[in-house]
Order: sequence, then structure tokens, then C-alpha cells
Amino acid sequence: MTPALDAKANEILLRYEQPKAAMLPLLWLVQENQGYVSAEAEAWVGRMLGVARSHVREAVSFYNMFHTKPVGRRELRVCTSLPCLLRGAGELMDRIRETLKIGPGETTPGGEVLLTEVECLCACEIAPMAQLDERYVGPLEGPSVDSIIRDSLTQPGRPESTPEPEPYLSTDGPVLSTHFKDPGGTWLDDYLTDDGYVAARKVLTSMTPQDVIDEVTSANLRGLGGAGFPAGRKWSFVPKETDKPKYLVVNADEGEPGTFKDRYILERDPHALLEGMLIAAFAIGSHKAYVYIRGEYFRSAKRLQRAIDEATGKGWLGQDIQGTGFDLDVVIHRGAGAYICGEETALLTSLEGGKGFPRLKPPFPAISGLFQCPTIVNNVETLACVPFILRNGAEHFARIGTERQGGTRLFCVCGHVVRPGVYEEPVSITLRELIEKAGGVRDGNRLKAVIPGGISAKILAADEIDVAMDFDSLKAAGTMAGSGGVIVMDETTSMVQALDSAARFFADESCGQCSPCREGTGWVHRILRRIIDGQGSLRDLDELLAIAGDMEGNTICVFADAAAWPVQSYITKFRDEFEEYIRSGRSTEQKETAECPA
Ligand code: FES
Repeated sequence: MTPALDAKANEILLRYEQPKAAMLPLLWLVQENQGYVSAEAEAWVGRMLGVARSHVREAVSFYNMFHTKPVGRRELRVCTSLPCLLRGAGELMDRIRETLKIGPGETTPGGEVLLTEVECLCACEIAPMAQLDERYVGPLEGPSVDSIIRDSLTQPGRPESTPEPEPYLSTDGPVLSTHFKDPGGTWLDDYLTDDGYVAARKVLTSMTPQDVIDEVTSANLRGLGGAGFPAGRKWSFVPKETDKPKYLVVNADEGEPGTFKDRYILERDPHALLEGMLIAAFAIGSHKAYVYIRGEYFRSAKRLQRAIDEATGKGWLGQDIQGTGFDLDVVIHRGAGAYICGEETALLTSLEGGKGFPRLKPPFPAISGLFQCPTIVNNVETLACVPFILRNGAEHFARIGTERQGGTRLFCVCGHVVRPGVYEEPVSITLRELIEKAGGVRDGNRLKAVIPGGISAKILAADEIDVAMDFDSLKAAGTMAGSGGVIVMDETTSMVQALDSAARFFADESCGQCSPCREGTGWVHRILRRIIDGQGSLRDLDELLAIAGDMEGNTICVFADAAAWPVQSYITKFRDEFEEYIRSGRSTEQKETAECPA
């Protein structure tokens, strides 16, 4: 290890209240400099943090993005999660494997490229897709597949031939997408010209923290990461009289398959997030905020850092903001490839430098969160709504939505629709209307099923889509609004294969802390594999439901519930198809194709 790395590490350590919290940044520092994390580097990180090497080893082995041995000069991550699978990721992976003549986890003999098979990179709007080093590319169809393979074999930094994706994106929504037009992002001067930081100035100069909490509560702003908990009420739980520091933590660990909205806020309108953070920090009395951003979001992290630097330079962050006496320091903390860290307590454990293990609640983070101090964890989209509320008034925001949920949402529509993309719509829009806005089902096919809120949500059949997209309506319909990720499946979809894909995701991503989840997700996936391989029995379906029943409600966090819900809903709603698959050893669609050759 070099003196330059020592100096950089010491600089990073200054950002954190406790040295161990710098675990992931130091591991990233090593990997970015040396290509992987060697045993020597683990020992160095341990010394810098004052922890045993075994703690470092534990972290390295928990997070998917760290390499423990030399790998290719470039890394090609190919997504094979459900939304990508629906649009041809299986064929894409086969073609890449055949051309590169290596399998996932292997590097080409000349050391050019490491091929990695990954779960959802939250770019399902450009499915099927891949990530070459830091760059997202897709849809990978036709000649673009050859381009990405060619690019992956060139030296890093060379000009690339795969074009930037251009998915559908709302650019004129009333709340969240007004600054999405420029793919290069909206920066401070333009943001200020467009009433940027007007709400923050009003809050800092003429409101009390309680005024802000009341306003956000009246606006009916719900937590848009998935839980839907009222944001103002959450803020009100932070103790007012305490000697401990209070923290604001932004959950930018977007990872739910079918979801890709936060990335657009981070990359195209980062000041909306920063202004929302400033207002939230004032409301709860916090002077330190962390943005926990998923490891694969390299560009998002860089753009957010640029916005932080701009805001700091112009006195909108840092000490004595705009002469008001209020201070706020914002630090970006990058994850390293673990879906579970999107769960708020796992995120905090990870931020403290440990494996991303969820914690039992209570105590809730508002009372005892980061470093055992009062902490509010809010999602990116939730906070990005806050400036609009304070600028235009709670009533205006509330009126856009339903009785119990104000405003709009950035709905992510993917799968078998004509125009996958991000749609900003009032939450009263129905699922049917949303699918129509996305151009309807592709190729004139019939709709078969829809997942309305990310892969964890219970699936809806084609005749269940006349339901509004707010949290309460979808709950009443037996599913959930979740992260706003809408995955559309047409009549060509095999529900057995779709559930197998979801099951693989949950088996891969279980943190392993609770037995019902660790064992249950593994068994569900193994049984589904057996069915897919034509070795299943009808008894397996009841076995799957029994395992799902044992998982639900029996673990520290809701991950196991989220893994159980697809099993329960797919098998209950499409049992005939599962039985037919088992009897014939193949899916209904495969059978039809075989019987009716074109
Ligand atoms: Fe591939 Fe989301 S990016 S499934």
C-alpha cells in the first residue's frame, strides 16, 4: 500500500463519526487502485479502521461487487433478472457467452473482460441491458450486442460504439420530472433560475421545524421507497430534546427489480434531492446527512457529488447556510452490491461498516438509528417532493393525489409494453391507464399479468388492473404499491419461469441472518428448478405454499415476506398453468409452440 493511499484513506476517515463506517469507501479505494481486494489490502483496511482483519474479510465476502483476486481489465455485468428476462436477457447472455467463449464469473484468456451475471441493475426501461464498467447500455438487441462485445474487449477509456440509451421519460410532470429534459442533468444555475432553493430559503428564514413537519404532514406525503409511511409523521418521531446528534440518511440504494426512478432524480435533478434534504434536516434538527447510493450507480454518485460541490460552493450546504446559522454536511456513501441494504436498518448496519444485516424493530431508527442516534431514513423520491410542497403549499400537493396520499409518483413501467420508461402521474391513475400510457401491450398481444410495485409485490391477473396506483387502493386489491415498479407480462410469458426468476433473485439476495428466510428462499428456488427441469410433482406446489407460509412474518425484516408473496400469488392465480407444466414437463406456451409450428 502506498503513502498516497494512506493519505486518501485518512481524508475519507474524516467524513465519518466512527472509523469503521469508512469500511466500504476504503474497500472501494483499494479496488479502484488495485483492481481487487488482496489479503494485504484487507489487513491495511483493518489497520486504518482499527478493526480485526476478520471484520474486513466479512465485509468483502458479503458485498457482491468486491473481487478477491485479479480480474479482467473491464467488467461486463449482464442483467438476467425478471424484467430483462422478459425482453430477451437469456438469449443475450447466451450470445455473449458464445462470442467471448467464457461463462459468468470468468475472464477472457487475454485478461480483457470479466463477465458477470447480475440481478436487476435498475435500468429495466432499457432491457435487456448490461453495464460495461460504469456505463449502462441497452436495449441490447441486434447490432448493439456486437458493439457491446467489441467495446468490452477494448482498453478501458477508449471511445465506445454502443449508443447512450434513450428510454421514454416524463419531462413535464408537475412535481418530479420538470427537470428531466436534459440528459446531461440540471445544474445549480438553471435550478436557481427555476425557483430552486426558494422553498429552502423560506424554511430557513421564516418557519420553525414544527411548521415544516406540519406542512409535510398535511400534504399527505407518503414514503415512496415502498413502505408508504407518512413522511411528516416519521419526522415527528425524532426526539426534540436530546444531547445526541441526529442524522438524515437518504436511501438511494435503489434495487427492487422493476424500479429505476431514483436514478433519474440523482442524475438529472440532483438539486431537488439536496433541497429536500436541507428542508428535512432542518425539520428534524440534523446537521449531518448521508446518501447511501447503490454501488452500481457510478454516474449517479458522480453527478450527485457535483451537485453537492456546487451547493456547497454557493452556500446552500455546509456551515451557516445563506447566513441563517443552519449547518448541513452531506456525505455520499456508496454501497457495493447487496439488495438487502435497501431495507432501512440493513442500510444503517452497512453504513456503520458491517454486513448489511437488518435489525429488530423497535427501537425504530427515529429513536436509535445510525451510531445509536436518532435517524430518519427517507427515499430519494420522497425527499425530492419536499421542495414542491414547501414552495406551493401542502394543499396543492395533497389535491393532486388521493384522500390519503398526496402528489404524483414516478411510475416505472417495464416488461412487455410498447414504451418502457418513467411516467410521472397522479397516484389516482389506474394500472390500466398507466399501461395504456406506456403504449399498451407490445405486438398487439393480450395482457396476462402485472406486478404493480416491484418484484416483491403480489401479482395481479389481467382482469385485476382497474385499480388506482396509490398505496391504499393497491393494498385493498391484495397487493402493494411498493417501489412503483410496474412489470407487465403478456400472453407469451411462462408464469413458471417468471416465478423461477423471482425465486432465484430472493435466494441470491437473502442476507442469511434468519433461518426461515435463508433456508426457505433456497428451498423455493431448488423446488422451482426441479419443476423447470421437468422433474417436479404436483405435490411440489403445496410444498412451495407451505414453505412460503413458514417464511412470512417469521423473520427480522420483511425480505422473507417479500420472497413469499410472489410464490403465493403466482401459484394461487395461475395454478392450472403450473400443474400443466408439471404434467407435461414444459410450459403451456412451449407446448403450444411445439404443437403449432409457424
Ligand atoms: Fe435488468 Fe432491471 S435492469 S431487470
